[in-house]
Amino acid sequence: MTEKYQLVKNDITKREKASLDFLNEDIAKTTLKFHSSFEQYSETPLVELKELANYLGLKGLYVKDESYRFGLNAFKVLGGSFAIGQFIAKKLGRNIDQLPYKTLISDEVKKELGELTFITTTDGNHGRGVAWTAEQLKQKAIVFMPKGSAQERLERIRAHGATAEILDMNYDECVRYSNQLAEEKGYIMVQDTAWEGYEEIPTWIMQGYVTMAYEAYLKLKAKGIKPTHVFLQAGVGSMAAAVCGFFSSVYKDEKPIFTIVEPNKADCIFRTAKADDGKRHFVTGDMDTIMAGLACGEPNTIGWEILKSYAERFLSVADDVAAHGMRVLGNPLRGDERIISGESGAVTTGVVSQVMTRDQLKGIKEDLMLDENSVVLCFSTEGDTDFKNYRDIVWNGIYPNSKGDM
Ligand SMILES: Cc1ncc(COP(=O)(O)O)c(C=O)c1O
Repeated sequence: MTEKYQLVKNDITKREKASLDFLNEDIAKTTLKFHSSFEQYSETPLVELKELANYLGLKGLYVKDESYRFGLNAFKVLGGSFAIGQFIAKKLGRNIDQLPYKTLISDEVKKELGELTFITTTDGNHGRGVAWTAEQLKQKAIVFMPKGSAQERLERIRAHGATAEILDMNYDECVRYSNQLAEEKGYIMVQDTAWEGYEEIPTWIMQGYVTMAYEAYLKLKAKGIKPTHVFLQAGVGSMAAAVCGFFSSVYKDEKPIFTIVEPNKADCIFRTAKADDGKRHFVTGDMDTIMAGLACGEPNTIGWEILKSYAERFLSVADDVAAHGMRVLGNPLRGDERIISGESGAVTTGVVSQVMTRDQLKGIKEDLMLDENSVVLCFSTEGDTDFKNYRDIVWNGIYPNSKGDM
């Protein structure tokens, strides 16, 4: 069982701290104001799972349910929409504060901008956010998906009018292909990860994700609660870094302990933290995991700097940990609310549930410093975005816990 969990401890007291200026509360106010101007905006629920916390032996457990985000079943649109908003603001020489949704989608702005084509690579959620934003703006989007992507996710992107295709390449190869096409054709690459020389748009995307963290922060603050532990799942690490950076900025010296969780088939951030040699470490090949949103092999350069400075723990876990989390959230204890959480959304709750209840994981529980005084915050970043797989896992029981796990 323990080999299902691999852990790296990061002594952040020894790290030179990356700047949090781009993820501070002022930015949070701007992004929240921007997203709140959308007709489809409503704050997503921060669900307190009282009974589950009690059962697991925690003081508190909160899960932010992003399946309600803009009716798109995932948090990702926060990033793409804010980045496109910023891109347009820059192009028009205006401040994003002067470009609320209504202005952004107006014919007058469209006339000023002319025809634009946004291009991206996606496992599904990010591409849907970009396609949706382009649709609202009456602009074009081209979306590529890696080999093995769910047909259903492709169709959902096409339904927003985007040109979308599944390519015979893995995620990182797809990103390079999209970027090359963008350069050749003058398209605007809206990618949710950064690399050397491509940092402005991914920074805006990370800032867009801060809305999700800020909503949770404000809700908890109103109740006088500060989380002691935040668990964040990572693909390229943009979301994890945005949330970790924002909380580290607002909580300062009383910041929670951050644990970054990845599938063991795509654990590029875990490997980078483990090697700790100043280089990013990649995972190549198909990265065959049920956590499609986390199947990325190359850490975001900006994100890694934040995580290295502020995240204490890195975990690499097996697919059935995510399946367990989906079942726990979808089948709550009496008195708790149900959360429909997909593979990439549920893995962090899966970790917390298993670590708190399994004798074999006692060592990990201690390493994560979890006990009866802990107040845990997780983000369920997607709902059942792969409808069939969700049912196969939650109803039909595929990816069961291994024998001896219980
Ligand atoms: C549902 C979901 N959760 C988490 C992530 C991870 O985000 P990042 O790639 O920024 O680490 C993704 C990325 O696509 C996702 O789709």
